[in-house]
Amino acid sequence: MPESARDLAVQSLACPSCGGSFLDGPDSICCRQCGRTLPFDDHGILLASAEAKSPLTPAQRVGQWSLTARGYEGWRRRALSLMSGGPFSPEREWHLLFGELPFGGASVYLDNATATGYLGRALARSLVTTQAPYVVIANDLSIPMLRRAAELARRDGVAERMFFIHADSGSLPLRSGSVDGVLCGGTLNEFTESQRVLQEWARVLSPRGVVSVMLQTLASGWRGSLQRSLARLLGLTIEPADRARERFEAVFHGLRELSFGPVLFMSGQRRASTQNNYPSQAA
Ligand SMILES: C[S@@+](CC[C@H](N)C(=O)[O-])C[C@H]1O[C@@H](n2cnc3c(N)ncnc32)[C@H](O)[C@@H]1O
Ligand SMILES: [Zn+2]
Repeated sequence: MPESARDLAVQSLACPSCGGSFLDGPDSICCRQCGRTLPFDDHGILLASAEAKSPLTPAQRVGQWSLTARGYEGWRRRALSLMSGGPFSPEREWHLLFGELPFGGASVYLDNATATGYLGRALARSLVTTQAPYVVIANDLSIPMLRRAAELARRDGVAERMFFIHADSGSLPLRSGSVDGVLCGGTLNEFTESQRVLQEWARVLSPRGVVSVMLQTLASGWRGSLQRSLARLLGLTIEPADRARERFEAVFHGLRELSFGPVLFMSGQRRASTQNNYPSQAA
């Protein structure tokens, strides 16, 4: 039985070289099978291989700046009101995103492409009174974002419940079937290989696991024109809702779907046909 959130996280990891499990240590973890070590940086962030599979888009490059990490949450709290065209509180977003996740028993959640940990911290805070052990693993491509996330997790008193990893979402250093809930706010629009990321989520999800996403779809009228210009400038992918749903449902069996203007929330469970091999062979 895992003793702490960190134990739960380390038990969920898989060696990027051989898929083996890790032995925990104060400054690094070491693969029991091939001996590869992955270090923690001085902010406690696990440095897995985080080389993006393709060149970074302008949006991904902006995410690498410390200034973006500093200002991110000021924008993030208002983002859904701005995108949906009406008042949208953070609490409402959290309720929609967390509503279908499984709770109870030892649970591992993944806040995928966490940025400053906005969603992961909210989930960890909402669970602090539960008895069962849980951990929120949070990965991102950006070290400045992850450092800010670790700082804010300490400020909010949930650092013990979170485990930060510098890793690309297209090849997660996690065991197949080890995660009970995957959250992803906004970043499906930002991934260059979103289909590969969807396959990775399906691979890491446990049979009771649920994935819950929020993304932007193409609006009509002037909002749509603005989105197209922004997408071109930043290298984002913003598709009509039908297309986004089709891609999600090719991998997941849908549980719930709600739209607020162009903002789409979807949750689902992996399909029985999911490929479970590691390291991921998804194209
Ligand atoms: C729009 S923010 C969304 C953050 C967060 N999910 C939220 O709801 O606030 C996008 C984040 O995704 C990260 N990101 C983009 N591509 C990534 C990838 N392939 N793997 C991991 N993180 C990625 C960026 O570094 C940035 O921090
Ligand atoms: Zn190994």
